[in-house]
Amino acid sequence: QLLYVGVDLGGTAIKVGLCNASGDLLRTHEGPTEAAGGAETVLNNIAVYVKELVPPGTSEWDAVAGVGIGIAGFLNIPEGIINFSPNLPFKNVPVKQIMEEKLGKPVKINNDANVAALGEAWGGAGKGVANCVCYTLGTGVGGGIILNDRLIEGSTGMAGELGHMSVVPDLEAIQCGCGKMGCLETVSSATGIIKMARDAVARGDRTSLSLLENGVNEAKEVFDAAKNGDEVAQRIVSRAAFYLGKSLAAVAVVVNPQRFILGGGVSKAGEFLFAQIREVFQKLTPSNAQDGVEIVAAELGNNAGVVGAAGLFLRA
Ligand code: BGC
Ligand code: NA
Ligand code: ZN
Repeated sequence: QLLYVGVDLGGTAIKVGLCNASGDLLRTHEGPTEAAGGAETVLNNIAVYVKELVPPGTSEWDAVAGVGIGIAGFLNIPEGIINFSPNLPFKNVPVKQIMEEKLGKPVKINNDANVAALGEAWGGAGKGVANCVCYTLGTGVGGGIILNDRLIEGSTGMAGELGHMSVVPDLEAIQCGCGKMGCLETVSSATGIIKMARDAVARGDRTSLSLLENGVNEAKEVFDAAKNGDEVAQRIVSRAAFYLGKSLAAVAVVVNPQRFILGGGVSKAGEFLFAQIREVFQKLTPSNAQDGVEIVAAELGNNAGVVGAAGLFLRA
């Protein structure tokens, strides 16, 4: 029976998982990305963790028919190259070729949010839904678009880079890690929410966030304060929700999905956040594009990435 390895390459951790030919996750392993060490270190780490997951020389290793890698960044998918990443030290690196040499196995690469979307579509919140769009709200904002049960990659792989949809108007826009202005990621990622909170504290706004001993370090701290009635925190959350809702409204008239799936750390804020996003979405979307459209939480959590990445060989 053939086996497949999935790799979820993120800014801080690399998660690897072994799947059977039915796509069941057999076991996982993980280690630090060590992004500060540069691309060579990161790619070596992937090879090390994969070989710790499935030791070469075993019959299991021989049964591994492919390694799929989901990467946070701008890829040229057909060429197997990562061109740029806001959170990883990669510039025009031919990841597919390098990893095939290191592992001696066929390798496929795709965007991290794309593979998470595939994972959700196959076994999570998108199961049985032919048209769905996923957002991952974490360090960055990622996206994955599935239409007629197929992942949309676009001409080079940039389709679904929803975090870089420019939604914030000029006067309020700040520069994104991608170099452009007003990206959704600047206001709706965990990083963006933390930054808005730190700015408010630095400005001297009256907020309970200024009482945190080590400053604001997690989006959850902002959500908790907002849930407890802190008005400054509430404004930050509604700003994050407003631009998310606005982005969903734009996507709704472009691809008309049946379900939006929101995952990643920020989505753990739950109904408090979802209710605000739905309200904005309803206000901005023509009724034909919003009737019956659901906005739900992702279900697979941390494993969506490795399952989806292994699945690049199984179902694509
Ligand atoms: C990157 C995307 C990635 C997302 C989530 C963004 O900054 O541009 O490629 O999917 O972060 O990791
Ligand atoms: Na994507
Ligand atoms: Zn951007």
